[in-house]
Amino acid sequence: MKIEICKMQIKDLQKVLDIEKELFSEPWSAKMFVEKIINHESYVLQKSDEQEIIGYICGWKINDEFEITNLGIRKQFQRQGFGKILVEHLIKKVKNENCKIFFLEVRENNFAAQKLYEKLGFKVIGIREEYYNNPKENAVVMRLRLTENDSIYD
Ligand SMILES: CC(C)(COP(=O)(O)OP(=O)(O)OC[C@H]1O[C@@H](n2cnc3c(N)ncnc32)[C@H](O)[C@@H]1OP(=O)(O)O)[C@@H](O)C(=O)NCCC(=O)NCCS
Repeated sequence: MKIEICKMQIKDLQKVLDIEKELFSEPWSAKMFVEKIINHESYVLQKSDEQEIIGYICGWKINDEFEITNLGIRKQFQRQGFGKILVEHLIKKVKNENCKIFFLEVRENNFAAQKLYEKLGFKVIGIREEYYNNPKENAVVMRLRLTENDSIYD
């Protein structure tokens, strides 16, 4: 399967919203995604021939730090390396803009996502109590700090 990663566009919105509803108990609204498309770094990973969206990632730069705010891979495509590809893509891109510290929050019981982030070098740095609703759950805060000698994202 040939894939490509493209900037998320308004034309992708409906497909992204459908995936978001499939994956999350508190899905982002169309309005939230539109803001992310306009003001943030947002990408879709899709099949290059059919332009079928497999997953997406969103994040934003705050000075020299970067927060990953959303990541989703359609259920039927999970565990095939696509989540890792998307996070790596974003990190490489932002790294070139001189951003070396990455943050994210993830549900305490979302072991799949935590494992993925750990694999990419993120470390747990704290807990935000009852950060999520539906169900109420703590957030684990994770951070990746790239060093000068760090070549994994070259
Ligand atoms: C979390 C998520 C993005 C992972 O995407 P993915 O494409 O399935 O992950 P990958 O195939 O790239 O996995 C990379 C590594 O992460 C870990 N991992 C991913 N899913 C896992 C699972 N279900 N159980 C255990 N480890 C898992 C593994 O170490 C895996 O490497 P391996 O397959 O060689 O063992 C995906 O499961 C998803 O969309 N979940 C629902 C939405 C969500 O939780 N988003 C994150 C919000 S913070």
